[in-house]
Amino acid sequence: MTAAVRPQVLVTPAEVRRRVAGRRVAFVPTMGYLHEGHATLIRAAREAAGPDGLVVVSVFVNPMQFGPNEDLSRYPRDLDRDLTVAGEAGADVLFHPEVSTMYPEGYSTSVTVQGVSDGLDGAARPGHFTGVATVVLKLLHLVRPDVALFGEKDWQQLAVIRRMVRDLNVGVEIRGVPTVRAPSGLALSSRNSYLTAEEQARAAVLSRALSAVQAAYLAGERATAALETAGRAVLAGEAGLSLDYLTVVGGDMQTREMVDNDPMNRVLVAARLFGVRLIDNMPLDPGAA
Ligand code: PAF
Repeated sequence: MTAAVRPQVLVTPAEVRRRVAGRRVAFVPTMGYLHEGHATLIRAAREAAGPDGLVVVSVFVNPMQFGPNEDLSRYPRDLDRDLTVAGEAGADVLFHPEVSTMYPEGYSTSVTVQGVSDGLDGAARPGHFTGVATVVLKLLHLVRPDVALFGEKDWQQLAVIRRMVRDLNVGVEIRGVPTVRAPSGLALSSRNSYLTAEEQARAAVLSRALSAVQAAYLAGERATAALETAGRAVLAGEAGLSLDYLTVVGGDMQTREMVDNDPMNRVLVAARLFGVRLIDNMPLDPGAA
């Protein structure tokens, strides 16, 4: 078996511009420490790019989206492994800019998407979505993709990016790709690496809580409070878990007293387990997703 070709590493905007010129480009922005969830995004990008297209993956741990007391300095990094994972999944180019390239001395512009950014993670992590929207817009300008792919695990982030792209006429297709889960149900995330194997197994309680909400919905429950209670009941007995939110929202990220049959209805959870903040979400109706 021959080893997969590792992607070409580019670090400057000028190199990227030259490389993408005239090509159909599918783009996967990441913060690195790539796992099977990212590999799934890259394989979907390979498909979207087509045989003559270019798949670009960015690896950039974006300081602007971390709060002062968050994990920026210890965020996991392993570029060598990222190159292997990205290459095996079909990436042609890995864009790995320096912080000083993305935010040079005197940098003073940011993008805030109102409404969808306000609640949930936007409330828990002030400034987070401004950091995300800003870096994603910069990356889209640099890479100029035809299509950009994002994981549905970060459901609110996806909503923020879709809104920004629509509002600012960015001219790129945004595709969401379903969450990849461990056999336990735990959503794959680079931050899972902070947890031991046993803690990861315990953290699967989050997906069980979301499944309980789905089950209540499929059994006919339509009152948001009752749906949320079904999910919170699963989390209630879990020692060491501090719940941030478990909330049912529509496609506009707003909560209503009663849910309708909108396929965009979703239940989102955020909790701190063993000192690590994890998020996850599922559609209310798995068949409609
Ligand atoms: O989801 C992520 O990994 C990041 O938030 C993103 C979209 C790459 C922006 O830094």
